Amino acid sequence: MNNDAGFWNRTAEKYAAQPLDDEAAYQKKLDMTRALLTPGSRVIEFGCGTGTTALHHAPFTQHILATDISEKMIEIARSKAQAQGIENVTFEVGGLDNPDLAGQQFDMVMMHSLLHLLRDPGAGIAKAHDLLKSGGYFVSSTACLSGTMRLLQPFLAIGRLFGAVPYVAFFSQRHLSAALRTAGFEIVQEWLPEGHKAVFIIARKP
Ligand SMILES: C[S@@+](CC[C@H](N)C(=O)[O-])C[C@H]1O[C@@H](n2cnc3c(N)ncnc32)[C@H](O)[C@@H]1O
Repeated sequence: MNNDAGFWNRTAEKYAAQPLDDEAAYQKKLDMTRALLTPGSRVIEFGCGTGTTALHHAPFTQHILATDISEKMIEIARSKAQAQGIENVTFEVGGLDNPDLAGQQFDMVMMHSLLHLLRDPGAGIAKAHDLLKSGGYFVSSTACLSGTMRLLQPFLAIGRLFGAVPYVAFFSQRHLSAALRTAGFEIVQEWLPEGHKAVFIIARKP
């Protein structure tokens, strides 16, 4: 099992029960994403958690492959899909290094609340670029923790020793958008909802 999966497996039930902290911002992100989807869209989501976002978008796509390293998150996501009667989302346990993805191309890649959890966010961005068709979209929400937030780092490192917090990378919004451009993306939308730390970015592969 991936080392980080243990934390997310332990957290999954609680995560699933948590209400959204900003319903209006979430809805706006769904709407901006949906505007890019067509009935023929093939989408992949990494770090799908309990599948909420994939299940919202499913009726507007051909198929969504929604993956997560946590078996428990995927188990909850599958039961939600079954309860909602949604059949065009495949939930699979897996990470960005899934060898089955070799040679596959998608119209959209989603990573919500994931890039800042990766040891190498640049590799996550490169993976999204590889998996997209030309003209496809990378849609992400990413907590950008920099400046004084860095003071949290030692506390997080201690928390990690006890399995109480996941790994978290620290970088700024400016760093993230520069990394997307360097990887070859054009940024179409960049929105930091008021009072949020997570920036919502839609980036297009030319
Ligand atoms: C903060 S949750 C976000 C879940 C969902 N995307 C959302 O926005 O509600 C982060 C998710 O990423 C998953 N995750 C963490 N590290 C990962 C990795 N290296 N590859 C794939 N998924 C990962 C966790 O299991 C967890 O479900």
